Amino acid sequence: MSMPIKLSIDLNVNGVDYPVTIEPGRNLVSVLRSEVGLTGTKEGCDDCECGACMVLLDGQPVNSCSYLAAQAQGRAITTVEGVMRGAEMHPLQRNLLEAGGVQCGFCTPGMIMSATALLARNPSPTEEEIRIGLSGNLCRCTGYAKIVAAVQATAAGRY
Ligand code: FES
Ligand code: FES
Repeated sequence: MSMPIKLSIDLNVNGVDYPVTIEPGRNLVSVLRSEVGLTGTKEGCDDCECGACMVLLDGQPVNSCSYLAAQAQGRAITTVEGVMRGAEMHPLQRNLLEAGGVQCGFCTPGMIMSATALLARNPSPTEEEIRIGLSGNLCRCTGYAKIVAAVQATAAGRY
């Protein structure tokens, strides 16, 4: 009986190397949650539609449900846990709470990752640019306006 093939790789997540041994076909979100133990990244549709699984790879937003963990070796992976500033929340996190942009919270980690990438490439986005930047992230609760307001507040330097 043949044994399933496994790969031993290192994943660099939020600046820390995590050695993991996985089947080659595992997607990044499942490895982040199960092997790495960081459960902030959510798994929603598992089909590149909802954005709940968004992480940054070398600063670029990627749906980690549709990305092989093995392909992320050698790249800098940032998850929502990595946007904290020590024990303090990132201003975007504080503004999301302040604006009421978090209800069930399932979309929030992915929103934060997309908004972080947007603000890194465009520190003063218009409302339309924010809506385009978050267009890959679905929210069933808030109607988006409060999330957009939180990104605007962060861009304006609040918190
Ligand atoms: S879980 Fe990845 S896009 Fe929905
Ligand atoms: S707050 Fe519930 S899906 Fe966005």
